[in-house]
Amino acid sequence: MSLLITGGTGYIGSHTVVELLQGTDSQDLSKEIVIVDNLSNSSTKVLDRLEQITGKKVTFIEADICDEQALDKVFSEHNIEAVIHFAGLKAVGESAEIPLSYYQNNVSGTVSLLQVMTKHNVKNLVFSSSATVYGNNVSPLNETMPTSATNPYGQTKLMVEHILFDLAKSDPEWSIACLRYFNPIGAHQSGLIGENPNGIPNNLLPYVAQVAVGRLAQLQVFGDDYDTVDGTGVRDYIHVVDLAQGHVKALEALGHAKGTVKGCQAINLGTGNGTSVLEIVNTFKDISQADIPYKIVPRRAGDLATVYADAALAGSLLGWQANLDLTAMIEDTWRWQSENPNGF
Ligand code: NAD
Ligand code: UD1
Repeated sequence: MSLLITGGTGYIGSHTVVELLQGTDSQDLSKEIVIVDNLSNSSTKVLDRLEQITGKKVTFIEADICDEQALDKVFSEHNIEAVIHFAGLKAVGESAEIPLSYYQNNVSGTVSLLQVMTKHNVKNLVFSSSATVYGNNVSPLNETMPTSATNPYGQTKLMVEHILFDLAKSDPEWSIACLRYFNPIGAHQSGLIGENPNGIPNNLLPYVAQVAVGRLAQLQVFGDDYDTVDGTGVRDYIHVVDLAQGHVKALEALGHAKGTVKGCQAINLGTGNGTSVLEIVNTFKDISQADIPYKIVPRRAGDLATVYADAALAGSLLGWQANLDLTAMIEDTWRWQSENPNGF
């Protein structure tokens, strides 16, 4: 049997492939991993790194999830039993500039994937959703809260969630875990794979890491007048390896594995803890011993003061919880950034 990983050469996908290849106690290690990625935000160099880390090979197919014919061929040639669907565009600012590309890739692309899965009777799916679907709800955020979106990227995640809920309602054979990620950071402990954003990073951690390594001059801290511990924004940062292990657990909880996920189920993947921007900067400074100049600037439009998860459901439903602390997250980010100062 095979597992299809769309977007598997990307940041979260590549870490998940490592965890799948290395297996857990209950994981059948004989499964073939098939990655489909159009390389719009990743490189095939990741494939060598995956082999270096695990000593195993994956099957890589360069294809776009919007291309139904190409997907059909993948399902015809491999005995796929479940899909983890990471492929998509993810930059909030860019999504407001080129919304059609976001709706095309994230929404139409997912519908194409679901059509082909239906045709081949593959009805087990793990989907990359985001805490962005909680809109302005007050933290801790739990899965029963109403959802909303404030930008085209968030809309695409919400639309796909609605599609997945409708699909599962229409056909009880579907088993879908909609994983709502909080703020993934960190890198594999080997320093061989990590986050490799194109251009100037939008997210805090890659920005701080590039300042620490001297690639960017100075961090801008977006606001210090929030009602938080030190006035700067608080987020629920989660180590990408914990997040990856959450995918392995979600896969084991799907219908084909006779697990606990029935129909379509939204599940938070977060730690339940919040950390402020200045706490991140100070911890990064301590660990890297690098200078991290910063300047306080006005708030970024659309930002909330505090966002963190109620992570209980992932515990009870998947038997998963985050284990790695902020020190591990930042040590691993720093190892990756300092050993690969210009990415791949
Ligand atoms: P990433 O950009 O590193 O990985 C996404 C991968 O998908 C890339 O390798 C890219 O080349 C590929 N891709 C994009 N469009 C494609 C298409 N049409 N066909 C085939 N491949 C395509 O991003 P990531 O951080 O690994 O995120 C993975 C998923 O998780 C995304 O869906 C993202 O929206 C979601 N997510 C990410 C975060 C985060 O902070 N990183 C938070 C919440 C949700
Ligand atoms: C962003 C996205 C969100 C996505 C999430 C996880 C926006 C508006 N939201 O949210 O949709 O789900 O990432 O990928 O982009 N910060 C600075 N300086 C910087 C960058 C960030 O001070 O240069 C601050 C922010 O104001 C925030 C914190 O750092 O308080 C984290 O920011 P970021 O990494 O962009 O994540 P989110 O704001 O949670």
